[in-house]
Amino acid sequence: PSDQNKKHLAAFELLTKFYHYLLTTAKYGSVGMAYLEKRAFSQEIIERFQIGYAVNSWNAASSLLQRRHVDLSQMAKLGLVASRGFDQKYFDKYRNRIIFPIFNLRGKAIAFAGRTLGDEKPKYLNTPESPIFHKGDILYGYHLARPEIRKRNQVVLLEGYVDVIRAHQFGITWSVASMGTSLTEKQASILKRSAETIVVCYDSDSAGIEAAFRAAGMLSGGSNLIRIARMPEGLDPDDYMIKFGGEQFKSDVIGASQTLMSFKMDYFRRKRNLSDEGDRLLYIEDVLREVSMLKQAVARDHYLRLLADEFSISLDALKVQAKQLQKQLQ
Ligand code: UTP
Ligand code: MN
Ligand code: MN
Ligand code: MN
Ligand code: MN
Repeated sequence: PSDQNKKHLAAFELLTKFYHYLLTTAKYGSVGMAYLEKRAFSQEIIERFQIGYAVNSWNAASSLLQRRHVDLSQMAKLGLVASRGFDQKYFDKYRNRIIFPIFNLRGKAIAFAGRTLGDEKPKYLNTPESPIFHKGDILYGYHLARPEIRKRNQVVLLEGYVDVIRAHQFGITWSVASMGTSLTEKQASILKRSAETIVVCYDSDSAGIEAAFRAAGMLSGGSNLIRIARMPEGLDPDDYMIKFGGEQFKSDVIGASQTLMSFKMDYFRRKRNLSDEGDRLLYIEDVLREVSMLKQAVARDHYLRLLADEFSISLDALKVQAKQLQKQLQ
């Protein structure tokens, strides 16, 4: 890394330790610790993810950086401090927030996500893109998950920071997060290279379901097995594990994850009213379009039979239409 990048990494290392020290020192961190305890974070997981707390102060971090003779104008570019308009004095950007360091593959902190303790916006204040941090190139938790991903030849993709931390706390250590619902091409390519099976488990709200559909599309087409996990409406993986535990998450969510086609069939189903004849035909077309894109004849046959049985249509008619669609696509 360049001299500049080394300085940036050093600043994140210093502040990661500082915020973690504040959290774990009773006199400074009790408010942050109370929040984490309420959300059932264990001591051990706080250590593993180097979680911290930025106290409610305008200058805790900036005066530390100043004492260490760090160039504050550089720190402003990293989104750690900002300067006041009227006298150019620097103040802390992170105040009264839980700090989740974001690590690169080597386990070095390269960014922070700071969560509010309440409902203020933004919920997560992320440090901006910088020469050492491109959010779309990183999967949260990957540096910790990598050995288990290799061993199992499976990776579980979640949405959020807390989802990953909770999964690791409950032993599901082959989990990573895209840090939101917009999976990037770069993140998709890291996932595809990391394991044969990719299980997508996004939040069970409409944004998460739409995003899972999109992510599945980006991940499919190669040699990976893509599976989509579903949870009861409204829950995210963290909520689910708090409610039902990690073992049930493994068996009933990851274990019961759907193939891409059966997920898509459910997805199309939700968009149509199958008791309406017109909608029913549109649904059949939705599915036929997907079926006609399948490479294996056996898989095509399987899904055509499912459709034929469910809607009492002749298999021959479905085959003819699937062939037509297949031609259109070529
Ligand atoms: P969610 O809104 O689902 O939050 O965003 P969450 O992860 O469940 O967080 P908790 O449980 O309320 O604490 C999912 C992910 O999207 C990104 C973060 O990576 C978050 O974990 N996000 C969300 C942001 O970066 N900024 C935001 O303001 C919101
Ligand atoms: Mn510690
Ligand atoms: Mn969400
Ligand atoms: Mn969520
Ligand atoms: Mn959540």
